[in-house]
Amino acid sequence: MFPEIRLRRLRNNKQIREMLDISPPHPNKFIWPTFVVPGTNIKEPIKSMPGQFRYSVDMLLNDLGTIVESGIGGILLFGATEEENKDANGYASFDPNGVVQQAIHKIKEKYASLTVIADICVCAFTDHGHCGTLNKNKIVDNDETLITLSSMAKSMCDAGVDIVAPSSMMDGQVHAIREKLDSNNYENKIIMSYSTKFASSLYDPFRDAENSQPSSGDRKAYQASYANLDLALRESEFDEDEGADILMVKPSLFYLDVLAKIKASTDLPVAAYNVSGEYSMIHAANIQGWGTLKDMVHESLISTVRAGADILITYWANQYKEIFND
Ligand code: PBG
Ligand code: ZN
Repeated sequence: MFPEIRLRRLRNNKQIREMLDISPPHPNKFIWPTFVVPGTNIKEPIKSMPGQFRYSVDMLLNDLGTIVESGIGGILLFGATEEENKDANGYASFDPNGVVQQAIHKIKEKYASLTVIADICVCAFTDHGHCGTLNKNKIVDNDETLITLSSMAKSMCDAGVDIVAPSSMMDGQVHAIREKLDSNNYENKIIMSYSTKFASSLYDPFRDAENSQPSSGDRKAYQASYANLDLALRESEFDEDEGADILMVKPSLFYLDVLAKIKASTDLPVAAYNVSGEYSMIHAANIQGWGTLKDMVHESLISTVRAGADILITYWANQYKEIFND
């Protein structure tokens, strides 16, 4: 007790603080989510997400060199298609010539050591913008959607992806995808499930980037409720039982309690998805002069590691050097 014990001793100077603190996460913990669109010579800034772009495959490959050099672990790809290719089921998601399939192929050719991950969901490919097939009552048909998700996952494996990341929050999606991959000799492909994904207000900049806003209704009948912790935890437990290799909590900053709980109750690696709204909030505060960008990014990412994240999926990943080295 005071005065014999003085906790401030362990914060005496920078050297002792750095010795005792957890270290800033190594770049190989980082996954950069990014957006691929049809066409060539496109690098279109996303207004609500400064520093992020919609890329055609050629332009993505151009920018990837310096990002790979920074040592980050992986890239998570989100696709798109022309309006006329969208349908009620999102079948364009498993077109072998889709932009993500093309990107995977070219990235693995040029940067074999970069882990390439494909998001597995149909909302960018359905004409109604929901994450699955709508039945006549306008409800997403769970089991029908599993068929499309499995075909999409297989198609990404055909293109050479390392990890598939199902994000549509259908029951049984991990099981269905694992079965499909195993029966096509893809038993070594990793499934990183968006296991506990909340219906969140923090996805708006992403939906703007992807043009994937549902045309009617919301996603509350499939994404988890932020006000029901038990059901949110069961979502990850279920995915573990279905054979997921990596679990995920998304978003991250409003959900560090959930992340810590899941981490404590599993031996699987757990990823945190630091989503578009979290990224844009920090930018917005910085632009207003209400916070220093680098300091806010450090604090938020180290908090996420402290809460138990093994992997950080974050839009800051393409700026790793500026944020952590400079
Ligand atoms: C779509 C999907 C979303 C995100 C990743 N995959 C949006 C949504 O569910 O509406 C959000 C990512 C982000 O906000 O950065 N299944
Ligand atoms: Zn979706």
